[in-house]
Amino acid sequence: MKVLYVCAELFPFLKTGGLADVNAGLPPALQALGCEVRLLMPAFPAIAAHSRGTRPIALLPDGPQPWGPAPVLPAAAVALATLPVVATPLYLVQAPALYERPGSPYLGPDGKDWGDNALRFAALGWAAATLGQGLDPDWVPDVIHCHDWHAGLAPAYNRAFAEAGRYTPASVFTIHNIAFQGLFPRTVFPQLGLPASYFDVDGLEFYGQVSFMKAALWYADRIATVSPTYAREITTEPQGCGLDGLLRARAELLSGILNGVDYAIWSPDTDVLLPATYDVDTLPVKASLKRALQLDFGLEPRGQALVFGVVSRLTVQKGLHLLPQVIDELVQRGGQLALLGQGDAALEQAFIEASLRYPGQVGVRIGYDEATAHAVVAGADVIVVPSAFEPCGLTQLYGLRYGTLPLVRRVGGLADTVVDCTLENLDEGRATGFVFDDLSADGLLAAVRRAFALSRRPGQWVAVQRRGMGLRFDWPSVAKHYLFLYELLRPGAE
Ligand code: ADP
Ligand code: GLC
Repeated sequence: MKVLYVCAELFPFLKTGGLADVNAGLPPALQALGCEVRLLMPAFPAIAAHSRGTRPIALLPDGPQPWGPAPVLPAAAVALATLPVVATPLYLVQAPALYERPGSPYLGPDGKDWGDNALRFAALGWAAATLGQGLDPDWVPDVIHCHDWHAGLAPAYNRAFAEAGRYTPASVFTIHNIAFQGLFPRTVFPQLGLPASYFDVDGLEFYGQVSFMKAALWYADRIATVSPTYAREITTEPQGCGLDGLLRARAELLSGILNGVDYAIWSPDTDVLLPATYDVDTLPVKASLKRALQLDFGLEPRGQALVFGVVSRLTVQKGLHLLPQVIDELVQRGGQLALLGQGDAALEQAFIEASLRYPGQVGVRIGYDEATAHAVVAGADVIVVPSAFEPCGLTQLYGLRYGTLPLVRRVGGLADTVVDCTLENLDEGRATGFVFDDLSADGLLAAVRRAFALSRRPGQWVAVQRRGMGLRFDWPSVAKHYLFLYELLRPGAE
């Protein structure tokens, strides 16, 4: 089974969020199951700079296609390369006019989407579909597995080839976040090189615009998303971002497959970014990491303080606007906050103000830093993820492995992975963290109080820690689910 894995970011080279971690974790796990996986990514500088043995494969076709013109792109080619520490080969879409821009794969230095994003990511989809047509005669995929809107046109081009009578690979699309849809003005449509009929409500048209996300949901052979609960939520109006009707219509083709964790990177017993390591039997070491975290974040090094940690993009999605509203009570109860994040300017400001109000109790680091992320996940007592919506969420999974109890809202993948410390769950040995329902300061506060209550029962706290640390959300079992989907799509399988 040959799988072309199409994506826009990849840990440790280029990362804006959990998508990069997933793209690093899933392909090698598929490979271990016997799939032959190759990545396909734009040759962003951060990727191209690390590529080794790059050799040209072919120019992207720009001549007429059976249904009309090809996409109108600047000169673009596909090359094959390898990356250090990445076990799978990598096809690069080389189009300097589109990709030779440092920094975020999606945004310019002004923090706004690049104006030509439609073409930048159409090129990725076109490269995927034409590789499916034998652009590299030595390697033709059986499945094209696309991730998020960035790769959303691949299934559409693939379908266009199929409708023209060509053999095509199967296409699978994974939704990592339906809130980001790749919406563009209808005026770009003629440049995309798709059949004219695809700009339709029964196609990729979305309220008069072009939607890369809808293209994928309409034309992919199977759809997956990153947790079972999110798979249900996005078929409902409040969470479907306008695409719930389409997802309900295609519900039989939609699967919720929970992400995994790369435990080679996120394990407290082997973590190379920590000054000391620990596991269930050496939990006291965690206290020294807590002290180090407190000192690093300018917090009073009180061993008794319950330290709440946050590692997050600061956006509406993450529900973190609630946290400044409960900070008074959190501090009055003797708690502390160590927050690492960046994003929304108003949220950044709210946390900076909290840190000025409570010096020594609230420590805030605005920015993005991998080592500090590990220090917070390891050193805090509680990791807070109060999301408004959360397709999967990885930080709560990291928290579980590090004995840092997740405090989460019951939504998406958070609902699927954390079990609340109710009396009965504690009694039955199932509890792994703190879960609240209502997206409000009161909702969050109730969970914060529960965390304080459990902290006064150290024996139970350690039991909950140990339970979480023993759980595994590993990539090999996730890969089996995806392989099952691929197998369903084999010609003659259904
Ligand atoms: P999302 O992808 O929606 O941001 P996830 O929980 O899936 O949420 O993944 C977030 C990933 O990004 C995790 O690996 C987390 O450690 C990392 N991360 C988020 N914010 C920061 C930051 N400020 N510094 C370092 N890593 C961060
Ligand atoms: C998105 C989601 C997050 C998920 C990640 C990886 O960034 O916001 O919940 O964990 O993708 O699938």
